[in-house]
Amino acid sequence: MKKNCIISITLFCIIFCFGTVKGQKEIYLDVNQSIDKRIESALSKMTMEEKVAMCHAQSKFSSKGVPRLGIPEVWTDDGPHGIREEVFWDEWSGAKWTNDSCTAFPALTCLAATFDPEMALLYGKSIGEEARYRNKTVLLGPGVNIYRTPLNGRNFEYMGEDPYLSSRMVVPYIRGVQLNGVAACVKHFALNNQEKWRMHINVNLSDRALHEIYLPAFKAAVEEGQVWSIMGSYNQLRGEHCCHNDFLLNKILKTDWKFDGVVISDWGGVHDADQAANNGLDLEMGTSTDGLTSKGKLAYSEYYLANSFLKGLKSGKYDEKQLNEKVSRILRMIFRTSMNPDRPYGRFVSPEHSDAARRIAEGGIVLLKNENQFFPIPVGKFKSIAVIGENATKSLTIGGGSSSLKVGYEVSPLQGLINKYGKEHILYSKGYASTRTSSAQEIKTKLNEDSLIRSAVETALHADVVLFIGGLNKNRNQDCEGGDRKNMNLPFGQDKLIEALLKVNKNVAIILLSGNAVSMPWVNRVPSIVQAWYLGSEAGNAIANVFAGDITPSGKLPFSFPVKLEDNAAQSFGTISYPGDSISEYYKEDILVGYRWFDTKKIKPQFPFGFGLSYTNFEYGKGTTDKYIYSENEMVKLSFLLKNNGKVKGAEVAQVYISDEKSSVVRPVKELKAFSKVILEPGESRQVVFNLPVKDWAFFNDKTQHWNIEPGKFTIKLGSSSADIHQTLSVYVTSK
Ligand code: BGC
Repeated sequence: MKKNCIISITLFCIIFCFGTVKGQKEIYLDVNQSIDKRIESALSKMTMEEKVAMCHAQSKFSSKGVPRLGIPEVWTDDGPHGIREEVFWDEWSGAKWTNDSCTAFPALTCLAATFDPEMALLYGKSIGEEARYRNKTVLLGPGVNIYRTPLNGRNFEYMGEDPYLSSRMVVPYIRGVQLNGVAACVKHFALNNQEKWRMHINVNLSDRALHEIYLPAFKAAVEEGQVWSIMGSYNQLRGEHCCHNDFLLNKILKTDWKFDGVVISDWGGVHDADQAANNGLDLEMGTSTDGLTSKGKLAYSEYYLANSFLKGLKSGKYDEKQLNEKVSRILRMIFRTSMNPDRPYGRFVSPEHSDAARRIAEGGIVLLKNENQFFPIPVGKFKSIAVIGENATKSLTIGGGSSSLKVGYEVSPLQGLINKYGKEHILYSKGYASTRTSSAQEIKTKLNEDSLIRSAVETALHADVVLFIGGLNKNRNQDCEGGDRKNMNLPFGQDKLIEALLKVNKNVAIILLSGNAVSMPWVNRVPSIVQAWYLGSEAGNAIANVFAGDITPSGKLPFSFPVKLEDNAAQSFGTISYPGDSISEYYKEDILVGYRWFDTKKIKPQFPFGFGLSYTNFEYGKGTTDKYIYSENEMVKLSFLLKNNGKVKGAEVAQVYISDEKSSVVRPVKELKAFSKVILEPGESRQVVFNLPVKDWAFFNDKTQHWNIEPGKFTIKLGSSSADIHQTLSVYVTSK
């Protein structure tokens, strides 16, 4: 492999630097030519075999270039929270390099919880620099599948339940990555909303739900983010696997959205030769080869887009136009990335990246409950702080599937708290135990549950306050790829432990590290609850800064927390709606996902979408719109004064929802249409202005296949969460 690499890099350098082959200027190497001309020139020099070789993997994570022409290989890597370690050529296992330990950035649920597109840009730029330094062409992320059920094992890799929020966050992430000459690969297109039966489950839903809920973040990634690659999903949509789904790839993605990048299959997501050739797939990765060969180099030539494709092209079964179309897209991506002489060099595990990881983590921590100002706990306030729970010390950057990382360092919550408050003030007890990362949740620890609880209770008994740090982890059937959670409960006897702690000490704060909602039977008996996600390398520092009050929490929930699983929309319609009957499933809740469901059905969630407390408080002044009557093509200018009324600096996420008061179709009670994160010093006020395009208030009409606005009254709801609406304003929309 190394030899191949060196030859192709050397050839690339020679050809690239001199810009000539056989003494003549080559158009495909001339960066002053348009990309289309360069593609045409490169294609004209390639044999059919060389072109086909570019359409499928040559190793676990790479595909061939054309060494003869100085066109480099494509190297992909996961994503989305850090740059995965190098693996062996044909294995998933780590190759034990000594220079590939990365910075772990917070999970994307945390990024979404910042409600801050600037943080998404910082995230993308920083992770893109790490990818570039490691010489990757493609970063396999970000993921924007919608949070449809709290059981989905991969929710932590995505950006929550709201299409508008995930759209606003995905665009700057992509821009940041691609600034480095590395292609982002937005995934998993589309409807990979559960891990159970993910390789085949056939999703059925209305066009309306598809366009209003499940596609907008992908559309924004393509049209606004100009993403250079996209990954198909494992599941099927209406009977066709999404990695070669004509409707999704050829019609929606490539025709309607005019995507000009590469469609990459998910690893093992390709199942049919004709569909792989015809239905919009460009680059096939990770296929297991029907048992023909399971290992070794030969396996790659058995891919659907390898030998059989070549044979089909030669016999006239497939049109060479299709091959050229695939290769054009791959070449375009290569010209934008590894053949862009101006791309920067990147950097790896730098202090800037630690700083970025910490700031994003701090901005995404959500304070859910804070009675009697439990937090902040200033340094020196208490003599003894008991920290209880396995997640205070467990590495949460490893496990979880393909997003698992080998990190340069990871500051655990316990370490962060010790650094902040001093060793002498922190007492630690594990309290509960899971098993090795990656093992199934059912596998029990060998440690004795009762003695773990006894010793935790003993620790809590003598402490001024107790910080319980638990939640889920990245083991199978928790927040982990390849399987869903079995229920919404906290695993490993944590509820029992919390009850035992509360018996001896009322001052127990619950800190949940997870990418999913959990049930909270103790919710009314604990003074404080914090949702602190998976925070990456800087977890402990971010947590300690927020707890001590150096940073005021400003994160807001990117998905609703139901009281119980059955309250969640997908679960409300029985197994045919989730997880399906093992062959098919029907999204019966249609567009009513997340808060759209809770609001419309008047079900009170445990904690609503968009919710999060602060150490300070904000006053919303009276909002005004610039007029009352608007046409579809106009923008509503909404403004109001926001004031920090408290004693500390803080940031508020002002949220704008709209309701269509009268409609011929079911509309949710509210839909998020704008938000803004505003940082204010104590006593400071700022005029906040939203420009709201009326056309964004349309619904997707299944019958006409168009977006429609029906004239009439709309209500604008301004609030600090989907449930805390401070004021409503009416406007009237005309059809002109
Ligand atoms: C995952 C992808 C990932 C790929 C490569 C697949 O199993 O679904 O998200 O990028 O593996 O690791």
